[in-house]
This record gives sequence, structure tokens and C-alpha cells, in this order.
Amino acid sequence: MISYGKQYIDDEDISAVISVLQSDFLTQGPSISHFEEGLCSFTGATFCTAVSNGTAALHLAGIALGWKKGDIILSTPITFLSSVNAIVFSGATPDFVDIHPENYNIDVEKLRIKIESYRNHNQHIKAVVAVDYAGHPCDWKALYELSKEFDFQLVADACHSLGASYNNDTSYAARFADITTLSFHPVKHITTGEGGAILTNNEELHKKVQLLRTHGMTKDADMLIQNDGPWYYEMIDLGYNYRLTDFQAALGSSQLKKLPSFIQKRKDLAKRYTDAFFHLHGQLLTESGDTTQSLLQLPIEQSSIQSAFHLYPILVNFEKLPITKIEFFQHMLSNGIRLQVHYIPVHLQPYYKNNFGFIKGDFPIAERFYELEFSLPLYPSLQIAEQDSVINTLNKLLSI
Ligand SMILES: Cc1ncc(COP(=O)(O)O)c(C=O)c1O
Repeated sequence: MISYGKQYIDDEDISAVISVLQSDFLTQGPSISHFEEGLCSFTGATFCTAVSNGTAALHLAGIALGWKKGDIILSTPITFLSSVNAIVFSGATPDFVDIHPENYNIDVEKLRIKIESYRNHNQHIKAVVAVDYAGHPCDWKALYELSKEFDFQLVADACHSLGASYNNDTSYAARFADITTLSFHPVKHITTGEGGAILTNNEELHKKVQLLRTHGMTKDADMLIQNDGPWYYEMIDLGYNYRLTDFQAALGSSQLKKLPSFIQKRKDLAKRYTDAFFHLHGQLLTESGDTTQSLLQLPIEQSSIQSAFHLYPILVNFEKLPITKIEFFQHMLSNGIRLQVHYIPVHLQPYYKNNFGFIKGDFPIAERFYELEFSLPLYPSLQIAEQDSVINTLNKLLSI
């Protein structure tokens, strides 16, 4: 079965893990800071904190930024649940802004309108969690300028976009956002099994996140109120155990060495999909709801942007096909190809409808996107013959 995503683990990765398993430290040892330094040098961020998963990274981001009950925090409906759940964890109120019909990220023009409408009711936006969906960066400069104009915090959920570039800059996320979060789940660009990281260029935020990762406790002599001796620690904030283990960090460092080649492989495979289907491409997602006669909308990179291609999302014009989305999915599955859908709009999840009153129709572009979207298989170990079988099966399905 060819699935939409998969890890790549080689002998070097396995040896790296084994050597930590045979060492003195399984957790809280030297592999963590080595991995964090590697992530800083790859992303250009000044500070990094490795944590147990991407959701923990988002949770700590919210606490470090001081989110609390009554704060209004905006995000996109087309993301994994965690981007929005992190808002709720802190007691703040989540709201959404619809996606851009071409890059599927938070629509910056609509964000401005939303902020202005809140302002007209004397309400201030505390933060925006923007997600580089599928690996395609948001318009970060525009987001940054808006954050300065309206005084809100910016979190970059970069769980899809490790290695992407914006205006030829791969270190854009930590430069524009207060905090950037990563995930190392097996389908992501690199994996540590479960794992995540928090990047920032802000030392104060970094120190807070470091404390929060380990129960809010410190042994740092400069931070202690008293010091009873070498065993002594103080808890100065309410934190969590969100640590990554050392053997996971060793896997992460070993994977990082291969990251440039992983990204290149993803880009090459994405180009092969685009070349294969470009003749069917047109804009299906529009503000007016009118669609072209085209069969597909492909993920086209916008100017000055290089996607890291975590996903290859296609939109399918089912009005032009004699089959439904479910039949399309089943047909691919019966040919050994398991597609995936990214994502069910978060505002339509029962939890968000029941607790925050969102209803169908609130974010029409995201909802239409969900009706049309499938993610094609895309991962570094996908063989050309396997990709060809995906392309051929799809081509047959699109020509019925
Ligand atoms: C955009 C996005 N944010 C956050 C997460 C959460 O990451 P994790 O699964 O490591 O908790 C994911 C993972 O799927 C994701 O895709």
C-alpha cells in the first residue's frame, strides 16, 4: 500500500539511537542540546527548545506568550487540530479567518477585515497562529506588518514547512514570528518518532519555554531565591514534562544531516506531479464560487516562495466527474494507494461547534477546499515507479 506520507530511517539513524541507548543518558543528556544547535543552524533561529511533540510546542508557545482567558486568538480552519487546540489550552477564545484560494494559508486581507471588525467592537486581537499549510509559507511580511499595525503576537506553526523559503530566505519564520513551532511526527520532514521544537529569536521567550518544558523548575543559581546546596532546585512557574528523550534527539540529529536531500526529493517528486497534471490545472477555488472547466487545481508556488512540500494537495472538480469524493478515494485505495484529506475544517469539528458556536458556512473557502481536497503520496522514499502508478491510476480516474 502506498500511503500519503512515511518516514525514512537508515542504518546511520539506527546506530545513532543505539549508541545513546548504550550511553549514560536516556533523557536530559547531551544529545538534546546537540539536536537543538543543529536545528538553530538549519533554520537560522537564535534559540531552540526540543520538546515531546508539536502539540506540546504550541501549548508552551501560548503559555510563554501569556495567553489567558478572555484573549482572542485567530487561526486558520485548514490545519491540524493542535494549532487551534493550543489556543483553547490557555483558556483563550479561538476564532478563524478563511483561507486564501490560491495558497490555502490564512488570507491576510480577510485577517485585516476581521481585526478591524473586532476593533469596531472595542476588542483587541492578542495573537495569530498562522500555519504554512502543506509547506507553502504564508505571506509573512504582510502578517508581520499587520502584527505591528494592530499590536498582536505572531506564532508560526511551521510543522509543515521545515526547509521552505520566503523571499529566498529560509530563516523567515523566526524572523517574522515571535515563536515558531515544529513537529517531528513520522510523516514530517524529519522524525524523532514523536517530537517537536520551539524556535525563537527572543531570549526572554526562550528562557520561559525552557523552564516550562521541565515543570517550571530551575537549578540556575542566578534564578534561585535561595540555595540550599548542589541538590537544590526551585519551581518558579507551573510547567510540564514536555521533554524529548536523548535517543529521540540522536535520531533527530541523524535525520537533520539528511534533511537537505529529503527536501530536494520532495521537491523533485512534487515537480513530477505538477508536470504530469499541469494540463488539467485551473483555479477551482474562487471567492465567487464559480469554477473553471478545469479538472484539477494543483499547489502552485507563489512568486519568491519555495514550498517545502510536506503535502501535495490537489483539488478535484467532482462536478466534471461521474464519481463522488468517497468513490474516488475508494478507487485509489483498491489500487493500493491510500490518499489522505488535509484537513477537515477545524471550526466544523463538534467540539468547536458546541463550545464556540461555529456553524457550516462560516468559512466558505475552507469548506469548499475540504470538499475538493486530496493529498497525494509524497515522501523521500517514494519510488519513481510507485509515483508513476499513482499518476497512472489518477489519470485513468480523471478520464472516465
Ligand atoms: C500544522 C500542524 N500543527 C501541529 C501539529 C502537531 O504536531 P504533533 O503531531 O507532533 O503533536 C501537526 C501534526 O500533524 C500539524 O500538521
